[in-house]
Amino acid sequence: LRARPGSQDAASVIEIVDAPLPDPGPGQLRIRNIAMSVDPYMRLCLDGAAGPAAAFALGEALPGMAIGIVEESRVADIAAGDVVSSMFGWREAFVADADMVEKLNAATGLPPRAFLSVLGGTGFTAYVGMMHLGRPQPGETVLVSGAGGAVGSIAAQLARMQGAKTLALAGSDAKCAWLRGAGIDHAINYRVVEDLDGALSAAAPEGLDLYFDNVGGGQFETAISLARSRARFVECGMISTYVAERSQAPRNLVQIIAKSITIYGFTVVDFMDLREWFLADMTGWIRDGHIRWEETVYEGLDRAPGALDDMFRGANLGKMIVSLDAAP
Ligand SMILES: NC(=O)c1ccc[n+]([C@@H]2O[C@H](COP(=O)([O-])OP(=O)(O)OC[C@H]3O[C@@H](n4cnc5c(N)ncnc54)[C@H](OP(=O)(O)O)[C@@H]3O)[C@@H](O)[C@H]2O)c1
Repeated sequence: LRARPGSQDAASVIEIVDAPLPDPGPGQLRIRNIAMSVDPYMRLCLDGAAGPAAAFALGEALPGMAIGIVEESRVADIAAGDVVSSMFGWREAFVADADMVEKLNAATGLPPRAFLSVLGGTGFTAYVGMMHLGRPQPGETVLVSGAGGAVGSIAAQLARMQGAKTLALAGSDAKCAWLRGAGIDHAINYRVVEDLDGALSAAAPEGLDLYFDNVGGGQFETAISLARSRARFVECGMISTYVAERSQAPRNLVQIIAKSITIYGFTVVDFMDLREWFLADMTGWIRDGHIRWEETVYEGLDRAPGALDDMFRGANLGKMIVSLDAAP
């Protein structure tokens, strides 16, 4: 990371450099990454803004979730060929202490990349936000924004699984078609609809019992205006505010009082005690055909900065991933 991007694209401040790869010492592993996660919070970290994670240091490689294959091991319980996840981020290969990585459970039968998406941080976020905090009930009306993305696409399906009438906002017709195919009752392309409040009111004249927010800004404002009395809001993300110059705050926050709205803000890392439950539940739901997931994959380390920028333009359906050439 060479500079804080501010209003510029992330790609303008990230440089790819060669660095020597040391031999692993006792207790260490040499790992070659096969896939790296691209996440909205990274944009806040690039800018050094207050967010869910610490600011990224200038002059350092970007930290973040990645999946890799062990090439050389100096520990007993991890062998060459094992697949591990780590937070060492955007690099092709690295050497690390073995206790800084997690060996992935091959018994799920799912491809390793699933541990970056539906079984990874974004699937877990959807699970915590929807199942633990939002708790949709049969017959309730639920709205999910950012519903074509990694968290939102899973969150919307979880609401539908609970028997809630589920509405979704996404930024393209293709994303909306995918959501309908996954059983979502109403999917609306917010970029083309002229009257978003009107379109949502027509689909759900009864109003919203639960709003799962990934976007903030204008869509948060719309959800407040359509909320029923005593609605619950799960504040998962506010991606429309992460580039400060483009940020817009809801103008109707005072309605939170009049409507007695309960707002749950959360950061998924505070709920790690639920992770084993999540892995068991989600693996079962996938096996039984209740949950689908999607990935948008860019190839090569050099495409990672652009992938982050493209994510802010809505280029991804499902989880944005950068694949590296070492895939087995
Ligand atoms: N609370 C937590 O612990 C936690 C953990 C992980 C993620 N999150 C949050 O969850 C949200 C989704 O994350 P994700 O990883 O699943 O990303 P994602 O939804 O897969 O990708 C981001 C999507 O956001 C939409 N978007 C971008 N700029 C927008 C704007 N100005 N207005 C409206 N939509 C915009 C785009 O889709 P469209 O085509 O629909 O515009 C884009 O594809 C983010 O806000 C993220 O920060 C929170």
